[in-house]
Amino acid sequence: MTKYWTDLVKQLSPYVPGEQRSGPGIIKLNTNENPYPPSPDVITAIKEVSGDALRRYPDPTAIALRSELARYHHINPQQVFVGNGSDEVLAMAFMAFFTGDKAIQFPDISYSFYPVYCDLLSVASQTIPLTHDFTLDLNLFDADAGGIIFPNPNAPTSCAVSRDHIIALLERTPDCVVLVDEAYADFGADSVIDLIDSYPNLIVSRTFSKGRSMAGLRLGAAFADSNLIEALHRVKDSFNSYPVDAVAQAAGIASLQDEAYYQQTRENIITTRQWTSEQLTQRNYTVLPSTANFIFASPPTDNAGALFSALSDQGVMVRYWPKDPIRNWLRITIGTDTEMQRFISAVDSIP
Ligand SMILES: Cc1ncc(COP(=O)(O)O)c(C=O)c1O
Repeated sequence: MTKYWTDLVKQLSPYVPGEQRSGPGIIKLNTNENPYPPSPDVITAIKEVSGDALRRYPDPTAIALRSELARYHHINPQQVFVGNGSDEVLAMAFMAFFTGDKAIQFPDISYSFYPVYCDLLSVASQTIPLTHDFTLDLNLFDADAGGIIFPNPNAPTSCAVSRDHIIALLERTPDCVVLVDEAYADFGADSVIDLIDSYPNLIVSRTFSKGRSMAGLRLGAAFADSNLIEALHRVKDSFNSYPVDAVAQAAGIASLQDEAYYQQTRENIITTRQWTSEQLTQRNYTVLPSTANFIFASPPTDNAGALFSALSDQGVMVRYWPKDPIRNWLRITIGTDTEMQRFISAVDSIP
């Protein structure tokens, strides 16, 4: 019954998140979550949040968390914005920078939330095709686009572009906001956060969901020249003054202060990623070079869809998109060693 819906809502095609199935024996490799818990310091910080802190509204400027992020990245708090997951940060960036007259550009195979924001906000868009080997050629973006956004590394392909290529892009697009979505940059890609002092049109988004194991908490950030950050704050304060609650602010600070734990878990994932890629390569899969906490792999036979279903029947959940040109590819999140061994055993058990 859509009688009361606006025409806009009727024509939306909302983002479909990966299935959140759980239970004994389920190996969940479908939403790029971190297989390790957050730092024990994060749990302590959450437990220490007082009733008084919950009774009150949180700091609307989240200045302690933004200052900690600024310390971590060697920038200043006026160059930091935080939101309820990087999805919200991205949505606010779309509102702040991409709702002009000209079409924005993003890769044709990329994070599927970008076209969803375009529909919601009536933003025209144009997709840039990936090359035949699924890499992104930044030369294909136009300097007079209404905005440019791409993940680095890209999702779901896992491949990254180099910092030099991003610098070359920024040099020739000074009039257009370039948003680099570094959701997965914790796992090996070059970061360009340090370039925000040199390029006033650059904005970089990050998340605590992947490298910091805090997807359930919903915390994301953006880094840019203070002028762009001010625009994000104007949008935030026209929508929700308190997107980051008191618990998330405390937990985010604790995570940033436990560098040893962060480094250890990301190194574990990189090592397990290497092992999993080798195992699949030995079984004649094509595996793209990943700098993410997932791999993008294509089986030697043309049966990724059937493989996806057979894995799911065994409780091994990966992600599959039945559309060209990725119809014969699976996106596999890197879990613990034990989980990936079970994944490989499941692969071997399927004819
Ligand atoms: C490329 C990319 N950007 C952003 C996000 C959003 O992450 P979150 O909202 O959990 O911070 C995701 C989540 O999967 C992603 O894949």
